[in-house]
Amino acid sequence: PPLNRIISLADMEASSHKTLSYKAWAYYCSAADDEITLQENARAFNRFFFRARVMRPVFRCDPSTKILGFETSLPIFVSGAALAKLGHPLGEVNITRGCAPSKIIQMVSSNASLSYSEIAAAAAPSQTLFFQLYKHKDDDVALQRIQEVEHLGYKAIFLTVDAIVPSNRERDVRSPWVLDDQENGHKFFIDGEGAADADPGLGIAGALIANDDRDMTWEKTIPWLRKVTKLPIVIKGIQCVEDALLAAEAGVDGILISNHGGRQLEYALPPLEVLYRLRKRHPEVFNKLEVYIDGGARRGTDIVKAACLGATAVGLGRPFLYAQGAYGEAGVRKIISILEREIITAMQLMGVSRIAELTPDLVERVDWLPV
Ligand code: FNR
Repeated sequence: PPLNRIISLADMEASSHKTLSYKAWAYYCSAADDEITLQENARAFNRFFFRARVMRPVFRCDPSTKILGFETSLPIFVSGAALAKLGHPLGEVNITRGCAPSKIIQMVSSNASLSYSEIAAAAAPSQTLFFQLYKHKDDDVALQRIQEVEHLGYKAIFLTVDAIVPSNRERDVRSPWVLDDQENGHKFFIDGEGAADADPGLGIAGALIANDDRDMTWEKTIPWLRKVTKLPIVIKGIQCVEDALLAAEAGVDGILISNHGGRQLEYALPPLEVLYRLRKRHPEVFNKLEVYIDGGARRGTDIVKAACLGATAVGLGRPFLYAQGAYGEAGVRKIISILEREIITAMQLMGVSRIAELTPDLVERVDWLPV
């Protein structure tokens, strides 16, 4: 359908399903085992309702905010996801260009299908990019990668910790193996060994993370990272309250509560529920670091709910892959404008005109929904 017929992120996903190759669709949408966590990530948002306030001036509503001090027009960002070129020849650059006008921050995956420099070169001068790091098992190789992206002007390191081994993603495994066709600037799936050594039974992810560090610890890895970079450090893949507290103790700048969009540990809790528990039991943590969530957010109301519960911003993964796959850069601009309208409408109907006014008293978790 023409782009003006797309009025929701669900429309975009449906359109993308029709456009993308079988393999691209399978890789993008797949999740672990029976995809229970995938579904529950999204369904968790349905358990939270608003306690809207009325008779408050909302004519001027401003949904802009800051992430790690960097401006963004909305409390959202692009969660780094691999291989955008599977969906569209311009790949990650579609996302970079599509985010530029609205100052939405793109987190670029370690397994991007374009080189980090090509992506950086596509960014507008004032545009912010973050870098998602899969730490190589060899510290020196990892260090080189960090120095490269620092030099290219990436502004933060999101260290992914929830994908130390590949999981079982059956849609991806069942679809044909096409990694060998992928071209890219930095041979991400090779790093010495390569796709040839990877087990096709593990799907694409098995090859992508084959050389990553499986022995990361709080004691060793975070001080190492602190030593080698001055960039803000965010831990991506926190899945429970206890680890959020350990991250705060470790002195990182932020945590992204995430289960990799349901693609890693099946039956990991939905990030929104983890956020809710963290905010209830340890509100002090939110003063020590920034907290973000990702997984299953598809509506402006989802983002507003997370913001009420203390999230500085919400990441979206698949929606950006689908949008760029189906419509390139214009698709990316489109989903951002849809989310903008939805976020502003929700804020106004809640009696709120600034992101800072989104507080926990504006949402209520309900238990009267059938499970
Ligand atoms: C991902 N994700 C991911 N995460 C990461 O740290 N490094 C990566 O390379 C990838 N690659 C990747 C590929 C694809 C196709 C998907 C769908 C996801 C996880 C991603 O950053 C994010 O956590 C989830 O996508 C968020 O869930 P939603 O918004 O897709 O539901």
